[in-house]
Amino acid sequence: MLLSADGLTKRFGGVVALSGYGISVQSGELIGLIGPNGAGKTTVLNLLTGVIRPTEGRIVVSGQDITGWRADRFTARGIARTFQNIRLFRDLSVLENVTAALHLRHGPGLAPTVLALPSARRAEHGMVARGYELLGLFDLADQAHARAADLPYGEQRKVEIARALATEPKLLLLDEPAAGMNPAETRRLMDVIRQVHETLSLTMIVVEHDMSLIMNLCRRVQVINRGEVLADGAPAEVQADPAVIEAYLGTRRARAHA
Ligand SMILES: Nc1ncnc2c1ncn2[C@@H]1O[C@H](COP(=O)(O)OP(=O)(O)O)[C@@H](O)[C@H]1O
Ligand SMILES: [Mg+2]
Repeated sequence: MLLSADGLTKRFGGVVALSGYGISVQSGELIGLIGPNGAGKTTVLNLLTGVIRPTEGRIVVSGQDITGWRADRFTARGIARTFQNIRLFRDLSVLENVTAALHLRHGPGLAPTVLALPSARRAEHGMVARGYELLGLFDLADQAHARAADLPYGEQRKVEIARALATEPKLLLLDEPAAGMNPAETRRLMDVIRQVHETLSLTMIVVEHDMSLIMNLCRRVQVINRGEVLADGAPAEVQADPAVIEAYLGTRRARAHA
């Protein structure tokens, strides 16, 4: 078991964002986490990456209980993520965005860098090469020196995923990676996600509110609504679940009346 979470509850004052949430993730899985807006999806990702601490419950990664640890220690245990709102260093180049993350993982440390030792220079060369390799996965190598903020939205999302991969995660969590993309960009991104999952045998959880995107991508789908797990299983099974249908129709009805 790569990761398991049990009984995760998160309260923000009087708001219960998540209630008794649980998931077990085996190495190699590509899991879709879906639910209407406000269901608690981002809260799950924030908890599973140590960005916030659970009010109750526990998180075990590779057999170790890391509940309450700081986010950087989740990263060190092999958990990486992207954000629903893109968080790139806007004024750095595409390549620098990726190598910045490589420094976190493989940096030579401050002393050799400050002293400009050969070991630091060698490490730097290695990181640039690795940065290009990661960008290549997303057909972004020829954009390496572009300013990150100048790329189209869809490309910026890919840079974010490349940067997350730089930390060599065992588990990668993507928060609504297709947000803000047009249908063509979305289809291409889903292909890239599938390809990254297959070529790197990377375990992933992809969060999405649009059910149809996930149904084609993932063999396992977990559905949450109002902070609780409604269903967890194969796409066809989950899609036919009355509670899931009700949750999705319910929000659509509410929107129609709004
Ligand atoms: N920092 C916070 N403070 C207060 N309420 C929050 C906070 N973060 C999330 N919530 C609430 O928790 C619920 C779940 O939010 P979220 O996890 O962002 O949902 P989703 O990502 O599925 O749209 C929402 O009702 C949201 O308003
Ligand atoms: Mg969200």
